[in-house]
Amino acid sequence: MPLNIIIGAQWGDEGKGRYTDLLAAEADVVARFSGGDNAGHTVTVKDEIFKLHLIPSGIIHDRAICLIGNGVVLNPAVLLREMDALAARGVDVSPAHLKISYNAHLITPAHIALDKASETQLGQGAIGTTQRGIGPAYTDKVAREGLRAGLFAAPEELAEALHQHIRAKNEVLQKIYNAPTLDETAVSAEYAAYAQRLAPHLVDGSVLLDDYLRDGRSVLAEGAQGTFLDIDHGTYPFVTSSSPTAGGALTGLGVGPKMVDRVIGVTKAFTSRVGSGPFPCQLGGEQAMRLRGTGSNPWDEYGTTTGRPRRVGWLDLVMLRHAARINSLTELALTKMDILSGLAEVPVCVAYEHRGQRLDHFPTSLESLSACTPIYETLPGWQEDISGARAWADLPQNAQAYIEFIAEAVRTPVSYASVGPGRAQFLQVAAG
Ligand code: IMP
Repeated sequence: MPLNIIIGAQWGDEGKGRYTDLLAAEADVVARFSGGDNAGHTVTVKDEIFKLHLIPSGIIHDRAICLIGNGVVLNPAVLLREMDALAARGVDVSPAHLKISYNAHLITPAHIALDKASETQLGQGAIGTTQRGIGPAYTDKVAREGLRAGLFAAPEELAEALHQHIRAKNEVLQKIYNAPTLDETAVSAEYAAYAQRLAPHLVDGSVLLDDYLRDGRSVLAEGAQGTFLDIDHGTYPFVTSSSPTAGGALTGLGVGPKMVDRVIGVTKAFTSRVGSGPFPCQLGGEQAMRLRGTGSNPWDEYGTTTGRPRRVGWLDLVMLRHAARINSLTELALTKMDILSGLAEVPVCVAYEHRGQRLDHFPTSLESLSACTPIYETLPGWQEDISGARAWADLPQNAQAYIEFIAEAVRTPVSYASVGPGRAQFLQVAAG
């Protein structure tokens, strides 16, 4: 009864979608467990590219049921937009195929307004959030003031809860941020319409998953964001407000640890980050352009949700060791190996130098991290075009050596490597 978990091993945007897609083909349930529409994954449906933010990407496999788990914060307007776009392409988004946990929390227009107001007020010190209301929705959850999706099944309670919620948030918007307020009647009417459409999708997610797992069927937990955006284990406060790590998968779905089989940490063959916060391996100038791309391809390094250019740098093995420990990774899955083709040499960060001392562990304080500089080891590059490689033996020796070096340094086997954006452009690895 396997629960397999896909986790971002870096700062999000690792390309988790392609491995979710691969493993979803064999899964009976695909479930999102944390975050909200701050995530972005690109899926191809009948030759058309879709950018999904909320719906698990397993939706395009008719076989798997998709679940939005209790750990998610859900913007119903975004969800319905995605459902309509998929339905127009013939994808089944009926309640039989797409389920929402009663205990998922709702994002409201007040959360979005507060996210924007807070970022504006922080000015230079802004987190660089996606401004989707994620932080304020989780804040309300922890403050025990949140609105849960279960309210969709109780229209009167929903209306009353929304009135109170908008009234309270308007006070904050007005008095603390001097920002425009919201019309509580309009928001209530909007949410009443969402409730009608979404109530049939509600389930007890934990019971559903338990039934499947006891039946010997397989569940894939689809991670969003990444380990270094985790509220506890990331680069706080430049993090998201949830736990996108393996522990978060369990609480975010209502499943216990005995059920877990594989924990797959997805990492790019280099490093990227959007938003603010320290990034020891960050590159500038030509080298950054080389890794980022120009933006002319959908897979270049520009945010799926915000379109912002990503900050990029060489692969950081200190980070990957941290991710392997926090998540008990059973394996790594690499993406974008092809981007490194053509380089004479490929530097990888093996440790940090911190005030004259070598650090092998990711520091706990942001202040220390900001004072770290990378210690690189330089590996020989490969000149061959590897985009056609479909097996380990198709890779040039130096590309194989690069992957083997990672597996050894992180003490975690590498299972897969991707060599291009296409669905088939990956290979199974036997390194580590
Ligand atoms: P929030 O999740 O919108 O509150 O944003 C907090 C931080 O997490 C910001 O630095 C965002 O850029 C970052 N972030 C949130 N979601 C993603 C994602 O899916 N990929 C990459 N970065 C993300």
